[in-house]
Amino acid sequence: MFGKKKPIPQIDKDQLELIENAQKRIKQKKGLYAHFVIFLIGAIFLIVANTVLGIGKDFKILEIDWFVFAILIWLFLFVYHLFNVFVTNKFMGKDWEKAQLQKLVAKQQNRIEKLKAGLVKEETILAKSEVFKEETTKPINKGSELTIIVAAAENNAIGLGNKLIWHLSDDLKRFKALTNGHHIIMGRKTFESFPKPLPNRTHVVITRQEDYSAHAGVIVVHSLEDAIDAARKDSNPYIIGGGQIYKQAMAIADKIELTRVHENFDADTYFPEIDTNVWKETANTFHTKDETHAHEFSFITYTRK
Ligand SMILES: NC(=O)c1ccc[n+]([C@@H]2O[C@H](COP(=O)([O-])OP(=O)(O)OC[C@H]3O[C@@H](n4cnc5c(N)ncnc54)[C@H](OP(=O)(O)O)[C@@H]3O)[C@@H](O)[C@H]2O)c1
Repeated sequence: MFGKKKPIPQIDKDQLELIENAQKRIKQKKGLYAHFVIFLIGAIFLIVANTVLGIGKDFKILEIDWFVFAILIWLFLFVYHLFNVFVTNKFMGKDWEKAQLQKLVAKQQNRIEKLKAGLVKEETILAKSEVFKEETTKPINKGSELTIIVAAAENNAIGLGNKLIWHLSDDLKRFKALTNGHHIIMGRKTFESFPKPLPNRTHVVITRQEDYSAHAGVIVVHSLEDAIDAARKDSNPYIIGGGQIYKQAMAIADKIELTRVHENFDADTYFPEIDTNVWKETANTFHTKDETHAHEFSFITYTRK
């Protein structure tokens, strides 16, 4: 129990692998040697059986004794065995498999690196385009407070058949009071929904039509950025609609003066959803129904957070 332990010889992994390999090769060569001996004895037996014992003496293929073919087939099998031992197993053994595997792994890694590089490139392009978007949607000339003014239903409906859906006189009065003396920026369709330009306001109409002509004094531009640029001397220009222009202006406006009509309506034009992560409600006044107002509504002011 307390006697000295015999030291156990330690062999490292590489040595063990070499020994295992050598043993395998010895086994393969022994097998080949055995095959050779059996082939020799077998060949002699076939020759004796045919020539001495006369077995199948009359059976010939193309005038050649059958044992010649039997020996040739056996010889082919022996050569195949020989090839396996000295070529296939020697050069395509474990090391060869390992090397092939490493090559494949390296190839795959290379592909992964290329894909990664492609992704980084794509991200950079996307990031650049975001910056570009930001640069183009935030006009350089905007030195004033840009306000969106709109009346929208609970379901964000704002228009149907290029007309307003309701008539709320206090809402119109508020619109008049707020926009009086200012630039009012609008899409071509909203402009055309007016019987005539509104008094005491500078109309800026956005259209893609190069030859669009409007009444004298109406400024015609071909983009929202140009509209804001045209109103740069105004400390508080208003975006007055419609749906297409509101959608584009949401990203650049500083304020929203919303009249929320507390009902749902059928419409073909809608106001975009107001994201409360971006917009903060700063004022809210409720208005009941009465003889001149068929619907309840609230005046709500939002400012950009
Ligand atoms: N409830 C409210 O407070 C309120 C306020 C205003 C309007 N509305 C309603 O809204 C409806 C109209 O809105 P909508 O969306 O149909 O039309 P819109 O926004 O008034 O005008 C659209 C037109 O503006 C021009 N346009 C738009 N984006 C442009 C850009 N980036 N560059 C150059 N031109 C551009 C195009 O004109 P061209 O086709 O000439 O190129 C386009 O067809 C009507 O029903 C109206 O009554 C409601």
